[in-house]
Amino acid sequence: MSSQFTLQTTLPLPNSSVKIPALGFGVYQSHGPTCKTSCLTALEAGYRHIDSAQYYANEQLVGDAVKESNVDRKDVFITTKILSPGKDEEETYQSLVESVNKIDNGGYVDLFLIHSPSSGPQGRKTMWTALERLHKEGKAKAIGVSNFGKGQIEELKSFAQVWPPHVNQIELHPWNQQRVAVEFCQANNIVVEAYCPLVRNQKADDSTLKSLAEKYKKSTGQVLIRYCLQKGWVPLPKSDTPSRIKENADIYDFEISKEDMTKLDDLDQGADGAIVQAVDN
Ligand SMILES: NC(=O)c1ccc[n+]([C@@H]2O[C@H](COP(=O)([O-])OP(=O)(O)OC[C@H]3O[C@@H](n4cnc5c(N)ncnc54)[C@H](OP(=O)(O)O)[C@@H]3O)[C@@H](O)[C@H]2O)c1
Repeated sequence: MSSQFTLQTTLPLPNSSVKIPALGFGVYQSHGPTCKTSCLTALEAGYRHIDSAQYYANEQLVGDAVKESNVDRKDVFITTKILSPGKDEEETYQSLVESVNKIDNGGYVDLFLIHSPSSGPQGRKTMWTALERLHKEGKAKAIGVSNFGKGQIEELKSFAQVWPPHVNQIELHPWNQQRVAVEFCQANNIVVEAYCPLVRNQKADDSTLKSLAEKYKKSTGQVLIRYCLQKGWVPLPKSDTPSRIKENADIYDFEISKEDMTKLDDLDQGADGAIVQAVDN
């Protein structure tokens, strides 16, 4: 069956020449030597995009894996995130530089996100301004946000030099489709990344999902990741299991029909379907 996606598919980020690989690899709750091994397995399987964060305490491990791999730094897209600001913009900026150096000493990250809007309007402004400085210096090729609703993205406009943010990373899967935020991002060319695309395997027994997995002769996880791609979202599946890391990238030999996409769309439960959090619009 034909498919318009490949493991090499990239999406353009707004107002930039940067392209983001359409499939990412998540490393939340991946620690120590396991994190490094998992990143190496992912790179070997063909992933070219890794999603880390200061909060995950594994930036250095991600950077070490990329250095040890056979893949050139320029061919891997690495994201990290800052959760809360320092006491002022300078201290915040220094924290960003520290992350860059853990990942690629003296180099750059491809994408740096504000992890959450939870630090309030002033905190968001401090972090965005520090990120713009990092971006201007070339230490972050792109900058964006995570868990931001429509209003919080619009709020940045009042002071931002860089707007729209290149990316908004939010929880996304059939049970939590966040349609208002997604439509706003897509209308403004903001790339939407899907975290928890596998719903942490909590829906593996859902009858609709199971029947589609049987129909396409794929696993439930593969159907969920493929669903994200076909929605235009960038899924970030996480796994520390080598066989699953490979399985989650083996999603290019089938295509979910329009009718079956609608069946998955119909599973939406709005904010009630979130397992981490829905954004506040
Ligand atoms: N911005 C944010 O606030 C935010 C929040 C949450 C997550 N994220 C990002 O998004 C990434 C993905 O989200 P997530 O890690 O929370 O959840 P997820 O990717 O939906 O699920 C990961 C879980 O599913 C299991 N799994 C992986 N592949 C599987 C398969 N083929 N079959 C069955 N189970 C499978 C993994 O187990 P094993 O590891 O044991 O294989 C792990 O327990 C994170 O790693 C992180 O990078 C961002």
